[in-house]
Amino acid sequence: MTVKIDVVLSPDEVERGREEYRIDFAGRLVVVVDVLRATTTITTAFASGAERVIPAEDVQDAFNRAGKLSDALLCGERGGLIVDGFHMGNSPREYTAERVAGRTLIFSTTNGTRALNTTVGANTVLLACFNNLRAVTQRILGLGDGAPDGEVIMLCSGKLGRFCIEDAVCCGALTAQLASDYLKVGVPMELSESAEVAVKLYGVYGKDILSMLMGSKHGRHLSSLGLAADLEFAAMLDSTQAVPSFFDGDIRLL
Ligand code: MLT
Repeated sequence: MTVKIDVVLSPDEVERGREEYRIDFAGRLVVVVDVLRATTTITTAFASGAERVIPAEDVQDAFNRAGKLSDALLCGERGGLIVDGFHMGNSPREYTAERVAGRTLIFSTTNGTRALNTTVGANTVLLACFNNLRAVTQRILGLGDGAPDGEVIMLCSGKLGRFCIEDAVCCGALTAQLASDYLKVGVPMELSESAEVAVKLYGVYGKDILSMLMGSKHGRHLSSLGLAADLEFAAMLDSTQAVPSFFDGDIRLL
């Protein structure tokens, strides 16, 4: 059996592909990545003991859901900053055990929660970032032959429908790690062109993840808001074993 890996460089690709070449999540294992900062922050929330995260479509949807779940925390951002009326923003440093242990979080961000909500029909959806990279690849290897049907799709959240370097480099790191693990057990891999490119990008930028984040468009935006410490947080490699999984509208710890 051959394990195929594809990297989707922005959620807009999912809608844009021609019918015969369209990305189809049905029955697949999908890994959603938003290094700055949604998947980093959600992973941190679970590492700190959060019970459940509900990704909302938009701010209004988040408020509507909060109306039905009165003890949930409203979390997320617009433009990188906390939304008026929300309890918490999107900085992973806010998500301490004191604030989130045992809690349900309703979460809305610009790109990350949108990417999650495009994975309709997928068999398994995992959330990845640099903080849980090794933990995610170990879980993938533990899932039967690596993926339910031998194909893993990595989905970059991107920035406003466009490519962003930090998600592509993280997908490249995940792909390189999986390729090395599968090689050890003699399982052949087939990479799509975008997966090959992501691995090459990781080869160039993976040597200094923090510098790559600091030079990225969204990293510079966050730094201009006084949130440069979030880049240091997001750059930490393998700092947690937490692997969040999105199923049936809810994110929980796998
Ligand atoms: C997003 O989902 O767009 C991001 O997580 C934005 C941010 O850095 O807060």
